[in-house]
Amino acid sequence: MAYRTVLIEENQVMLERLSSVIKNTPGFDLSARYRNAGDALGQMQAFKPELILLDIDNERNGALLPDLKKSYPHTAIVGMSRKWDSEAQSRLMRSGAGGFMIKPFTGEELRETIQNLGNSAAAHHSEVVAFFSPKGKSGKTTLISNLGAALARKTGESVAIIDGDLQFGDMSVFFNLTPQSTIVEAVRDISFLSPVTLKSYFVSVNDHLSILCGAAKPDLAETVTIEGMTSLIKMARSIFRYVLLDLSSGFSDVSCTACELSDKTVLMAMVNGGYEVEHMKRALEIFRSWDDYKERVCPVFTRVSPCTEEEKAVFSKALGFPVAHILPNEYLAVSSAADNGRLLIDQDPNNPFSLAVESMAEEIERER
Ligand SMILES: Nc1ncnc2c1ncn2[C@@H]1O[C@H](COP(=O)(O)OP(=O)(O)OP(=O)(O)O)[C@@H](O)[C@H]1O
Ligand SMILES: [Mg+2]
Repeated sequence: MAYRTVLIEENQVMLERLSSVIKNTPGFDLSARYRNAGDALGQMQAFKPELILLDIDNERNGALLPDLKKSYPHTAIVGMSRKWDSEAQSRLMRSGAGGFMIKPFTGEELRETIQNLGNSAAAHHSEVVAFFSPKGKSGKTTLISNLGAALARKTGESVAIIDGDLQFGDMSVFFNLTPQSTIVEAVRDISFLSPVTLKSYFVSVNDHLSILCGAAKPDLAETVTIEGMTSLIKMARSIFRYVLLDLSSGFSDVSCTACELSDKTVLMAMVNGGYEVEHMKRALEIFRSWDDYKERVCPVFTRVSPCTEEEKAVFSKALGFPVAHILPNEYLAVSSAADNGRLLIDQDPNNPFSLAVESMAEEIERER
């Protein structure tokens, strides 16, 4: 059965263009079209619309959305705009719309938006976790790849990993992927994208886990600007329930911005000789400028041996701040899994590292 669709669009050229897309898309019937929501409100009842596509660039239409929702409580309403904007989208969702599309759209985009109606993460709460390390080789990518997979499996919700390690991102290696597009293209195109179209820049590993891979060459890193990264994170938030960000090590404008935009920042260090507590202390100092740093910053040490609660307490004391998690020294297991292009939690779910990652995923799930 086809969706009885009502199109509300002020611009005549756009109205014709969108009408033809709807008519040519299997599964959609164009029941009626109006120039504004005021006309539609009084007249479209006879068509029993199942879907309303509403031009929200016209402010009066946006203002009438609550009335539309009241008069047609069982009809899905999708807002359409020429440009995506996170504030406009959340306003729209709060007023009762089920989705958002950039116009003009293709039949494929229309179908995908309708499929995702109501699942849009913007309709509920999404969580962005940034992973930052003062020094390189801190075990970030190993943790994020395994944690992302564990979280996706455990929650059954949509999880994204964004490889924002701009020069030497290697998330694709951990998942054995050869991406068609990366963070570089996503940021380049972001001002023309909508949540539906951005999704196609991610590689889907399974039904619940998607990866936006890192730049193919280090010199492309500088094309990822603060503004681009900001828009990317905001839009990704509106698509996925969880977004995990792998960042370049050390402080840079882009990685600091990404941490600022995140709900949680995992501060990561690998135990290797003893200086890591000092590095972590200095990094923590920078984050202390956030009013809510105590809730938002989570120190994690990896390669800890013995990996016990007592050892965790020792690290917390040395740091002068509670350590959120510790992960065991499992060099052979993690590196052999990575060499095989597999994740340790899949290859050996009972390995102590896998179990520690599972418990981290459980905690993130519990915090919902
Ligand atoms: N818990 C662990 N125990 C032992 N070795 C580990 C552990 N986690 C990661 N490693 C090893 O440490 C090295 C660095 O890991 P990884 O690439 O995850 O770190 P990273 O912080 O992402 O590094 P980069 O700075 O290159 O991005 C790898 O060889 C990995 O196998
Ligand atoms: Mg890495």
